[in-house]
This record gives sequence, C-alpha cells and structure tokens, in this order.
Amino acid sequence: MENKNALVTGGLRGIGHAIGLEYARNGFDIILWDVMDEGKDESIDLLKKAGAGEVFFNKVNVADLAQVSSAIDEIISKQGKLDVLINNAGITKDNLLISMTEDEFDRVISVNLKGTFNCSKSAVKHMIKRRSGSIINISSVIGIMGNKGQSNYAASKAGIIGFTKSLAKEVGSRNVRVNAVAPGFIETEMTKKLPPEVIAEYAKLIPLGRMGSVEDVAKVCFFLSSENANYITGQVIHCDGGMLM
Ligand SMILES: NC(=O)c1ccc[n+]([C@@H]2O[C@H](COP(=O)([O-])OP(=O)(O)OC[C@H]3O[C@@H](n4cnc5c(N)ncnc54)[C@H](O)[C@@H]3O)[C@@H](O)[C@H]2O)c1
Repeated sequence: MENKNALVTGGLRGIGHAIGLEYARNGFDIILWDVMDEGKDESIDLLKKAGAGEVFFNKVNVADLAQVSSAIDEIISKQGKLDVLINNAGITKDNLLISMTEDEFDRVISVNLKGTFNCSKSAVKHMIKRRSGSIINISSVIGIMGNKGQSNYAASKAGIIGFTKSLAKEVGSRNVRVNAVAPGFIETEMTKKLPPEVIAEYAKLIPLGRMGSVEDVAKVCFFLSSENANYITGQVIHCDGGMLM
C-alpha cells in the first residue's frame, strides 16, 4: 500500500519534531523543512527508528515564497502528492510595542503568518487537483488572549486563525480540510527562554495543572489529519490544558 506523506515546517526541534515523530509512528513518509540544519541527521534517524517510510530534509525558509514553491514542486515530482501539510515554523521577537522595532514586527509576521500563506498557497493547488488533503496551522493561545510584549506574535497567530477559516471555506468542496491548533503553554526551547517566575504564573492558570508536552500537540495534529476527523474543517482546537475556555 502506498505510504501517506506529511510535510512539517520547522520540523527539526520542539513541537515540529514531535509532530514528525507522531506521523512516523503511523508509517508516514516525512518531509522536514527548517531554516537550520543543525541536528538534522539525528532527527532523520529518530524518525526512521520511529517507523517512518522515507524521510526527506530540505533547508527551506518558509518566509521565502520562491524557495517554498520550488521545494513543494520537488516533493510533488519525487512523491507525486502531498497528503498533509503542517505549518508549524514560528518565531518570537518579544518587546513592548513602545520599544518594538519595525524589523521585530515584520520578521514575526513574515515567518509565522506569511510563511503559512506561502506554504499553503504552494501546496493547496496540488491537494485540490487530487481532491484530497489536510492542512494544519499552528496558532497559539496568545493569538486569542493577547499577551504583553507579544503584539507582533499575537497578531501573527490571530491572523493564522482568520486565514485557516477562509481557506477552509475556499477548498472544502474539493475535499481539502484546513484546521488550526492553538497550543497553550508547551515545554520547548521557545518557552525555556521565559523567566521561572513567569512560568510559575502561567502554571496557575492551567486547570490541568501542568505545562503541555510536545506530544500533546502532535497527537491533536495527527487526529485532525486522520479519517477520524473527516467532517472537521475550519476549526481551532485548543490544546492548552484548559487555560482558555
Ligand atoms: N512552545 C509553546 O509553548 C508554543 C505555544 C503555542 C504555539 N507555539 C507554536 O508552535 C510552533 C513551534 O514552536 P516551538 O515551541 O516548537 O518552537 P521552536 O523554536 O522550538 O522550534 C521552531 C522551529 O522552527 C524553525 N524555524 C524558525 N523560523 C523558520 C523559518 N523561517 N523557516 C523554517 N523553519 C523555521 C526553527 O529553526 C525551529 O526548528 C510555533 O509556530 C510556535 O509559535 C508554541
């Protein structure tokens, strides 16, 4: 039987790496994209050990439409299709608005929001043609709640929600589903940068009483792209231990 394949952007570490592993455990071919390539061999090895079919890595900056478009074409020419796209690559450049530079604002929007546009635009035309596909966009609880010092990040993650719903309406009739996952407070390199007192404050807001794991988010992504979610599109699934309800 032909393997399904999944493309994970920002897939070398953190949530993206866990998403790759979840699909690997389910026998998918995995395509990893990242701007860095440090730790690439180890990552590929772990995916293969977890049960992936073929594993491909490409150094791709999701903010660059030309790079994204030719890397998607490469997937289609090698594998003939793309079943699942997970727009996970994301960055933060935190600052109070009063001190935020134009560059800090632009960089976060161009990776998080425009990156999602670039990858979805390049992939969805192939999905529409096959009348099959699933796109999952990683938003954030911050895109819904807002957060001091993160106006750029919150705007990018809120933008992803509007983008998800609009694209879901555009391509639903072609059997392409588009959903978003809004993780809460997840243990990764991104959150390790926060001071311990901020982490302790956040933990008090989580009814399940713990930070989330990268696997918690990866399992929701896998569910959303699976046949168990065949009638779900245009949704934002909160994976945040009840932090926002
Ligand atoms: N960690 C959390 O608590 C949390 C909460 C909500 C949402 N998120 C979102 O989940 C996603 C993953 O976060 P994480 O915590 O694993 O982050 P991370 O920093 O650990 O990993 C992000 C990955 O994306 C890659 N990347 C960055 N810019 C890129 C670009 N331009 N093109 C391609 N790859 C790029 C990085 O090299 C890295 O491998 C992000 O979109 C983030 O906003 C994280």
